[in-house]
Amino acid sequence: MNFNQQSMATVHPLPVPEPAPEERPVLVLDLGGQYAQLIARRVRDARVYSELVPHTLTAAEARRRNPVAIILSGGPASVYAEGAPRVDEELFSLGIPTLGICYGAQLMALELGGEVARTDASEFGKTELGDGAGALFAGLPPQQTVWMSHRDTVVAPPVGATVTGRSASTPVAAFEDPARRLYGVQFHPEVVHTPYGQDVLKNFLYGIADASPAWTPAAVIEEQVERIRGQVGSERVICGLSGGVDSAVAALLVYKAVGDQLTCVFVDHGFMRSNEAEQVAETFGGHFQVPLVHVQAQDRFLARLDGVAEPEEKRHRIGEEFIRVFEEEARKLGDIRFLVQGTLYSDVIESGGTEGVAAKIKSHHNVGGLPDDMAMDLVEPLRLLFKDEVRRVGEELGMPERMVWRQPFPGPGLAIRIIGEVTRERLDILRAADTVLQDEVRRAGLYRDLWQSFAVLPAIKSVGVQGDERTYAYPIVIRAVTSEDAMTADWARLPYDLLETISSRIINEIPGVNRVALDISSKPPSTIEWE
Ligand code: XMP
Repeated sequence: MNFNQQSMATVHPLPVPEPAPEERPVLVLDLGGQYAQLIARRVRDARVYSELVPHTLTAAEARRRNPVAIILSGGPASVYAEGAPRVDEELFSLGIPTLGICYGAQLMALELGGEVARTDASEFGKTELGDGAGALFAGLPPQQTVWMSHRDTVVAPPVGATVTGRSASTPVAAFEDPARRLYGVQFHPEVVHTPYGQDVLKNFLYGIADASPAWTPAAVIEEQVERIRGQVGSERVICGLSGGVDSAVAALLVYKAVGDQLTCVFVDHGFMRSNEAEQVAETFGGHFQVPLVHVQAQDRFLARLDGVAEPEEKRHRIGEEFIRVFEEEARKLGDIRFLVQGTLYSDVIESGGTEGVAAKIKSHHNVGGLPDDMAMDLVEPLRLLFKDEVRRVGEELGMPERMVWRQPFPGPGLAIRIIGEVTRERLDILRAADTVLQDEVRRAGLYRDLWQSFAVLPAIKSVGVQGDERTYAYPIVIRAVTSEDAMTADWARLPYDLLETISSRIINEIPGVNRVALDISSKPPSTIEWE
């Protein structure tokens, strides 16, 4: 396979060997649209394995992957723009069921004898689709709401294809050519604003491409266990647990595959939230009986941060100390050849596939580099999975709900949520405030709706009055955001009642706090964390 061809996004096919028959993928060709990754996720939601690949994929490469179907994504460009992305025309002659979405559909029309008109008007937002017919709309209302986002318009479908849907301003909103197994839709079935979108995709996958919904968490587990066994053989494996869902699921998969050949190391740096460290120890060492080294390193980390207030310096010192502790523990364990890493499919896509992810570890995720002489081979059991799939696999493996659905938590933990020097007193206050906030957010049923919700302690003091006493104490800032991927975020509109409960509980229950503030900044221009 040629990985050097330049795609418009940095997307490369995964280095998967010849697929077994049951692993035939749906290949989603990325033509640069913002929803390309979402299409791949929606296909997986329908329990069919899919991969995002560059639009430069050749017909020969496609044939080798033996895909069950091909989907051409949307794209931001006009098909007539200079340098507009194209696909290998021969893909359309392979007899593989192919669905073009938006730009992908326009490209099919253009390449296959149809016609695409340049228009000055754009159609954007919810649109009524009428005359929905044919295999894509089987069992669905012929009239339905769909989400459009385009300028150019298909005015004649590919030669031999029939029109199977139209809207007021789009004469060819859907077309199909069952004989050649080619299908196109101008709208976006992958977004939630198209209520029957997932059904349209299912019609394509199950009805047209004859794919079966076999990509289940159980099947993923079975497949990964086989792969891990094949890779690791009888060697020993080490895995660092962070308390987060990725490292936990990765560890459990490896444990299921090779049992006691795995040792997990959990470095407790003292910056976890209340009960988190105990929960990790209890879940892994207790419930799952995974060999676990629980390193109590709280004092070491606190000592390393003595007198340090600068955010990057804090991160640097925590990262360095983490490596030192991890290395000490790994050496004690003797000869270990493999290191588990929780790399996700989205990391693989973003880092440019194989070239971006080194075969030998140079950096431990989250924390910094491991020394060269400790170079180990990586085991990456989550490399094919999106985050929501990791959670479903975690559930299937019997992980506790709290761990599976935990909001993201930064590696350096509470240390970067104390703005200023980290001291034991400030950690205790922040941990207590965070507990109140988490409890109340959960009680309000909002925990899973929020990307993150947490407390921040700026190391300043302000004046207050409690009883007849003047107080001079810390403020606590409430930070709660909604987000899809942490790249952008909006401050969450928490109900006033909830804010009031959090505020009064924090001030009344935690000595050392006399004021609660709410952070109402979006990202950008702010960031989610304060440091
Ligand atoms: P920012 O603050 O940059 O955060 O908007 C984006 C996301 O990344 C998390 N974050 C970290 N995660 N180590 C981590 O593992 C870190 O040093 C770190 N800093 C920020 C943050 O919680 C948010 O989800």
